[in-house]
Amino acid sequence: MRLNHRTIRPTGAAISIRFDGQAIPALAGETVAAALSAAGTVAFRRTPGGAPRGLHCGMGACFDCVVTIDGRIGQRACLAKVADGMQVRSEAPEAPAPLAAVSSDAMAAERDCDVLVVGGGPAGLSAAIAAAEAGAAVVLLDERAATGGQYAKPLADSHEDAAPDAQFRLGRDFFARARAAGVAIENDAIAWAGFAPNEIGVLVRGRAVTFHPRRLVLAPGAHERPVPIPGWTLPGVMTTGGLQTLVRAQRVLPGEHVLIAGNGPLNLQLACEMLAGGVKPVAVVEAAPFPGLAVLHDVARMARAAPDLAWQGIGMLARLRRAGVAVLWGTRVLALDGEARVHAARLSDGQTLSVDTVALNLGFQPEVGLARALGVPHRFVDVGIGHLATEADDDGRTAVAGVFAVGDGARLGGARVALARGRLAGLAAARDLGLAAPEDAASRAALRRALAFQDALWRVFAPPAFRSDDVTDATIVCRCEEVTAGTLRQEIAGGLTSVAALKKATRAGMGRCQGRFCAATVARLSPGLLGTRAVDDWAFAAPRAPVRPVPAAPLMFPAEEFEAPLLTAPETPAHLHPLPTPPTETRRADIVVLGGGLAGLCTAYCLARDGADVLLVDRDEAGMAASTANAGSLHAQLLSYDFDDDTPEDGGPAAYTLPLAPRSIALWKAIAAEAGESLGIRTEGGLMLAAKESELPWLRRKSAMERRWGIESHVLGANELRDLAPALAEGLVGADFAPAEGYGDPLRGTLAVRRLALRHGARLLTGAEVTSVARDGAAWRVGTTRGDVVAGRVVNATGPWAARIGRMVGLDLPVTGTVQQVIVTEPVPPMTKHLIALANRHLSLKQQASGGFLIGGGWFGNFDRGTGRTQALRRSIEGNLSVCAQVLPVLHGLTFIRCWTGINSAIDRAPILGEAPGLPGFFNAVSANGYTLGPVIGRITADAVLGRETVDPHYRLERFG
Ligand SMILES: Cc1cc2nc3c(=O)[nH]c(=O)nc-3n(C[C@H](O)[C@H](O)[C@H](O)COP(=O)(O)OP(=O)(O)OC[C@H]3O[C@@H](n4cnc5c(N)ncnc54)[C@H](O)[C@@H]3O)c2cc1C
Ligand code: FES
Repeated sequence: MRLNHRTIRPTGAAISIRFDGQAIPALAGETVAAALSAAGTVAFRRTPGGAPRGLHCGMGACFDCVVTIDGRIGQRACLAKVADGMQVRSEAPEAPAPLAAVSSDAMAAERDCDVLVVGGGPAGLSAAIAAAEAGAAVVLLDERAATGGQYAKPLADSHEDAAPDAQFRLGRDFFARARAAGVAIENDAIAWAGFAPNEIGVLVRGRAVTFHPRRLVLAPGAHERPVPIPGWTLPGVMTTGGLQTLVRAQRVLPGEHVLIAGNGPLNLQLACEMLAGGVKPVAVVEAAPFPGLAVLHDVARMARAAPDLAWQGIGMLARLRRAGVAVLWGTRVLALDGEARVHAARLSDGQTLSVDTVALNLGFQPEVGLARALGVPHRFVDVGIGHLATEADDDGRTAVAGVFAVGDGARLGGARVALARGRLAGLAAARDLGLAAPEDAASRAALRRALAFQDALWRVFAPPAFRSDDVTDATIVCRCEEVTAGTLRQEIAGGLTSVAALKKATRAGMGRCQGRFCAATVARLSPGLLGTRAVDDWAFAAPRAPVRPVPAAPLMFPAEEFEAPLLTAPETPAHLHPLPTPPTETRRADIVVLGGGLAGLCTAYCLARDGADVLLVDRDEAGMAASTANAGSLHAQLLSYDFDDDTPEDGGPAAYTLPLAPRSIALWKAIAAEAGESLGIRTEGGLMLAAKESELPWLRRKSAMERRWGIESHVLGANELRDLAPALAEGLVGADFAPAEGYGDPLRGTLAVRRLALRHGARLLTGAEVTSVARDGAAWRVGTTRGDVVAGRVVNATGPWAARIGRMVGLDLPVTGTVQQVIVTEPVPPMTKHLIALANRHLSLKQQASGGFLIGGGWFGNFDRGTGRTQALRRSIEGNLSVCAQVLPVLHGLTFIRCWTGINSAIDRAPILGEAPGLPGFFNAVSANGYTLGPVIGRITADAVLGRETVDPHYRLERFG
């Protein structure tokens, strides 16, 4: 329904859009979500699991409201504006329309400025104004169509207000002041990645721009925290901020029986705004107890610090009382019921209320993705469900030179704290640049008062503590991937502890919202958060580019593959540095396997299956490195970069691995059969594509060489290729087809091997860094940070770190590492079934069972020696997307959701296996194509350790002389 108001009236032209073919009246200037809500439509789409979903956060953060608009998939209904005749659909079409044009420029535009401000809410506007008024050249970016952020968001263009209230006026005035000060305001501009403080990747109205600011002010605001209760994913259930945007800015409500619930004054404000719009809420449910005598002192502090705000609060309560709206203090919503939409709310006081719309707010979470990507330190704030806050001083200055972080996007504090901190940061940034920006005592005093008010406020509205037991097994924790608490608990019962491991095992956090609406709950449920390691930024999943899904097309810029620097001794990632633990007893095993990646896991699995006593040691949880970071290709043919120059007649060292691949793929299938699940394995063949006629002779020579090694492989012409893979680009001239190739799901595959190894009796010692390996009589003594292990035989399966372990026993292993990158797109209906590579370019491509395309092929990433963290490089992302688009035209219509990196072992293209010369009982198991070859490496190593088989000399260390 559309809301009335004393001073606000609709002015947008009456137009019409179509939703799944049905006409929906709309007002020019409003959002698609507003038009659908006004028509009472709350279910916008269905999940892959078939559940209806609609508008939830209303601010572009949760991606639950994505629809297809005029053929463009993945459009957020909460941000997209209506246009007459617009076709909105709940489902993705078979052929998505391009999302943006590919630039004809050679690279992204470059733009310098003194100060770049990310976020146009109170904090960002205030910082931008202060810096610009001091004389700095300031650019302010905001993803939305207008500045103001959440607090000072403007009225939609569909309406006019004859007497704007203080919040509307604040937004309008700050926008005008920023303009007057010369701030360059860029709306519809999303900062998608922070590669360095002076290298910020941005899409400005669909065009890629790399900003090189001298100072960076991050003010990206907050989003609401998840409220994981049964039914919170039902259409009609929104965050309070989401419903407030509809009510306050768009002047619509999707229902008539609205319950507002959670904690804090925003809920009261929304109830009053609804009353002003002519609709009485069913009730306001407040978790904090009624503010009685116990908090009188805090009420007095609030009144002293900000009398106007204190009066506003009292006024809101009085207004609700007069209107007969019950405020149920000390009460919680336990569950929401409904099917197509919410219809009932069950409360902790035993009542069940009949509702058609629910607004939930239990607090906020700072939007810390960019700050974390830039390496700014964060701390865990243990309030409510908990969140990460950016470490910064009163001026917003962080530990990373040139980076400031202010507003709710750094630390929660509300609009007045944001305004004061924003101004102080703007002035400090200007001073850094040598500009005259005087100290502002008034802003510091305002900050003190605002902080005092906030402190007292949250004592009155004490947030309820989070209790894991309240989250029932059936409750969906990850909205995007539909992962329940029960699924997470099952993995925890199976021994996983960290957020990273749970994410990989269940996919919780891998959806379009990138964990914004589940990461905190997963962290709370995971034993790791409260376990032995310090609770810090690392307790949450690693930050990844892009910070929001962005269209791939504008980022496609040609780039040459480049040689990655080889990491001779990669540091241990900082988060795996052990905390001091008391000495433990010496463990004993017949065989100890060092390193729990696929090589180690497969070895332990084979040994345990054959009845051996095996203990596997890893400094992390098993399988968390390359073995779950890889792209899952099951290679049977060689890649163009397996050769130095032209294809040698005999294939060179890489060719010795050819006979291993089909054997290993068969073992993968056996593992899947034993695990009782597919592990995403699909072997319908691999295509190495030729883009030019001149590449075909090379492909033919390579194919002939592979056939000599027993690999089935033949070259197809353009027509055959088109019949086999119609989704690929039309101009391709042929392909080397290897029917044995395919791909698997590295997450499911690696974790299944872990499960099977444990099932067969292998033991795991995780969180244990190996610090020494030495002879102990006839046995070996392995020193770890969790105590010694004495074993008769040792297997070194530590991947890129294998040379370090080698040095402990005086062995010079020619193993280094390279950081490699993988990109994943949003899901679409099935289009390709092959593993796809390109002759002469770096590319591996496949469509996963979930529908997303995995794009890789060995584009390199960066390694930070200080933290041991790996990071994607902008040019690699651009180059990888550009090469991929040459063969997969549909990529122009897709957003890319995530890009991640891992360290792969680099050897001479063949593995190092078998007993080390002169070190009886010490074995190596290291390979670069380790996802494909993991099972066969495990089998060969186990047989060698058990003395059953001698290892082929081409895989032995002795080949290096
Ligand atoms: C981005 C990327 C994409 C890839 N794509 C493919 C692909 O599509 N197909 C394919 O076949 N291969 C692919 N690979 C290669 C493949 O993933 C690796 O070769 C394989 O996973 C290596 O397994 P691993 O067990 O040797 O090493 P890892 O998985 O790196 O495991 C090594 C383990 O050793 C542990 N460790 C190291 N040092 C110590 C110590 N001192 N104490 C205790 N523990 C220690 C680590 O914690 C880690 O768990 C890719 C690799 C990357 C990085
Ligand atoms: S809720 Fe979006 S990734 Fe989990």
